[in-house]
Amino acid sequence: MTANVIERYPELSLAMDRHVNGSADSCYGPRALARHVAAAPVTPSEHLVAEARALLAAIGAETAAADGSGRRPTIDVMSERSRNLPRRSCLSVPGSSPRFLEKAPSVLADMTFIDLEDSVAPLEKQSAREKAIDAIRDLSWDDRVLCVRVNGWATRWTYGDVIEVVGGSGDRLDEVMLPKTQSAAEVIALDLLLTQVELNSGLPAGHIGIEAQIETARGLINVEEICAASRRLEAIVFGPADFSASIEMPVLTGGVQIGQYPGDHFHYVFSKILVAGRANGIQVIDGPFLKIREPELFRDYCRRAHILGYDGKWALHPDQVAILNEVFSPTQEQFDRAWAILDAYKEATERQGKGAVMFGEEMIDEASRKMAIKFVSRGERGGLKRSEQREP
Ligand code: GLV
Ligand code: MG
Repeated sequence: MTANVIERYPELSLAMDRHVNGSADSCYGPRALARHVAAAPVTPSEHLVAEARALLAAIGAETAAADGSGRRPTIDVMSERSRNLPRRSCLSVPGSSPRFLEKAPSVLADMTFIDLEDSVAPLEKQSAREKAIDAIRDLSWDDRVLCVRVNGWATRWTYGDVIEVVGGSGDRLDEVMLPKTQSAAEVIALDLLLTQVELNSGLPAGHIGIEAQIETARGLINVEEICAASRRLEAIVFGPADFSASIEMPVLTGGVQIGQYPGDHFHYVFSKILVAGRANGIQVIDGPFLKIREPELFRDYCRRAHILGYDGKWALHPDQVAILNEVFSPTQEQFDRAWAILDAYKEATERQGKGAVMFGEEMIDEASRKMAIKFVSRGERGGLKRSEQREP
């Protein structure tokens, strides 16, 4: 069946080629693709591209298991569960605090990450691993993305964090976050280590995804190759506090608006990270806003990242989560309008043979469809359902 599809549609051989040669091509798992294909009124050729990618991914999954031949397992369907889950709100919880860990599951964040890095004092690093493992195994985390932030490669803790926490947490852990990522090599090193830990702890190959934080000048220079470094990558994350320190910005609070600067002092950084992430099909997340008692300033700052196209942002406090979930979701009106655009465009292209049509007062075309798809998929991520349609 794969061969037939590829014979009929030569553009697919390119996808196959990339797949076989191991470049980062497939950013969707088969389940997400199936959902996408079922839900989105896409043009026939895109349907087929999607169908073929799903087939390729399924083939990859079958061959990914360790086969005793001594080859490194080929990992084609990475971290399937969490890759496409929403990350509007990403709650940070210090791994050293049993009280915060206990409370975290009741905070309705799309993602929770247990921190072993900067919110944990050096003397607590070792014991935080145990606390993180217990929390991951024993608490009820519903279906949110569950992640652990390990210490970066410049410290002495990274490999121990990965071996102990990933090796001891079981399959509920979805991802590892790598802070202060400076190069693609650091991501590859983590990917290789994870492959061994998965093999030794009975986790499926490719179960654990990676989020990489960009928070140094060197990391930003290398962000494009970092985003393409591993099929495990699910998200790229900006770390404004460490980044401000790295570039020696004269501020004492990272990640907040600077009144004296005319414009957004991080606009270039936001855009560069966003484009690198999108070019590699991964989610793009903004980091913390440190003034946790300033909800309106926080809301305003969230809108910046949202309007550029970011998928979500960190919360350092439960009160920030509700604001994030609201700002990073489309409104019901936007969601319904996006669906109406998709319907009108489908009607125009498939029934009337037209590439551009009027939709109310606007002209819509293929680019409008692409924009509308984003609203639909983000709305669905946030649990929106299309309103009842009125009879025409
Ligand atoms: C987050 O880790 C930051 O440094 O902003
Ligand atoms: Mg940081």
